Amino acid sequence: MSRSCLAVILAAGDSTRMKSSMSKVLHPVANRPMIAHVMAAVASAGMTDAALVVGRDAEKVAKAGSIDEISVKSFLQTERLGTGHAVLAAREAIAQGFDDVLVAYGDVPLITAAPFAAAREKLAEGADVVVIGFHTDKPFGYGRLLVENGELVAIREEKDATDEERKVTWCNSGLMAINGRKALALLDKIGNANAKGEYYLTDLVEIARAEGGKVVAVDAPETELTGCNNRAELAVIEKLWQERRRHELMVSGVSMIAPETVFLSFDTQIGQDALIEPNVVFGPGVTIDGGAVIHAFSHIEGAHVSAGATVGPFARLRPGADLAEGSKVGNFCEVKNGKVGEGAKVNHLTYIGDAVIGAHANIGAGTITCNYDGVNKFETRIGANSFVGSNSSLVAPVSIGDGAYIASGSVITEDVPADALALGRARQEVKPDRATLIRERALAIKAAKKAGK
Ligand code: UD1
Ligand code: CA
Repeated sequence: MSRSCLAVILAAGDSTRMKSSMSKVLHPVANRPMIAHVMAAVASAGMTDAALVVGRDAEKVAKAGSIDEISVKSFLQTERLGTGHAVLAAREAIAQGFDDVLVAYGDVPLITAAPFAAAREKLAEGADVVVIGFHTDKPFGYGRLLVENGELVAIREEKDATDEERKVTWCNSGLMAINGRKALALLDKIGNANAKGEYYLTDLVEIARAEGGKVVAVDAPETELTGCNNRAELAVIEKLWQERRRHELMVSGVSMIAPETVFLSFDTQIGQDALIEPNVVFGPGVTIDGGAVIHAFSHIEGAHVSAGATVGPFARLRPGADLAEGSKVGNFCEVKNGKVGEGAKVNHLTYIGDAVIGAHANIGAGTITCNYDGVNKFETRIGANSFVGSNSSLVAPVSIGDGAYIASGSVITEDVPADALALGRARQEVKPDRATLIRERALAIKAAKKAGK
């Protein structure tokens, strides 16, 4: 589309119904602030200019909404006088002159590129105002689309609606497209004579019609247009987001046994033929390559798992965990800022932090890299094909050479050369018959106590 377009995103509201110490649009969905989701949708719709209207928590909201994919200019709405007033906070941007002006709300975070495109198409066909509506069986709180003779004649807010109007189930999503050449003139006509005493953007429908303008409504799926006004709605939005992304991943070739128990982040990438078992949580920054297996109850963030690697059950991968092909991190293991080499095995009950493990090394059960002295962090290097016996503590900074062998139960504080055996534990002593003596003495004490009573 060669028409120029400005997206105006409203995010200045006080969020009173969220009952929160921070602005609603900063609350995360899939570990990303709501406002960033809206901005990403704007960017994916091919729009290049965005005006973000901020008020409460202005700086934080501006920052959260400034995503890499699009150039965003923030405008401060100093008083919260309603959505119509909020759009005019971006007057300077609108006045630059665009063919299309699109308005979206920062608290409608499931939106995708499709409704933006549909609205712009109607503008291109000559509409002056385009409203994106949706049908719902829970219309409470939304503005209702009022239709006469098949034409959208007004949007009525919940508080201003009659009982009859409240029964209408066709709702305003908040996404509106306006002829950019007429936008300012129309917006300047919005008044505040309504139940809330606010300047309602939705009044544009009646205003444009009164001037003989063309107003149309376009439908989009409810699942994309659900708004968030309180925590319960936030949870619904999270659920819808998760369902949508799981579905996308599954149809792209990822297996999930119980998808409803898998939680993804906004940027979780999973390759074809990966298997995700039940109850797996992905924090931000995770890439799982094709064919990897994530066993049940694993928690993964900021990590990369290569093809053919397996994780869990009950594993925790923290930021900087990088598992090479065919490697294995098993039950009750934690890896933080650690590279696990190709085919290396960290099977049970182990902490790997700030470490590099070479290919095909075997890390025994209960191994701990002691990476922290209470002030600084240090690195552990474990060579390829080495074998670390169970219950060893590797006190960093320390390096274990390729092919070395660490006796189990060792506390390793000095570097171990390649192919060496290191023992860092007390030598075993065996005292014949001493157990019998100890037992007899114990029994004698017990008998004496009993006799004394
Ligand atoms: C609004 C719509 C309603 C629609 C619903 C969709 C109006 C008058 N009503 O109602 O028709 O069905 O969204 O979810 O537009 N904001 C500002 N400055 C303000 C007021 C609001 O920036 O002065 C922002 C808020 O941060 C929010 C968005 O505008 O992101 C919507 O505001 P909100 O108060 O949630 O409107 P609703 O009552 O939900
Ligand atoms: Ca809202």
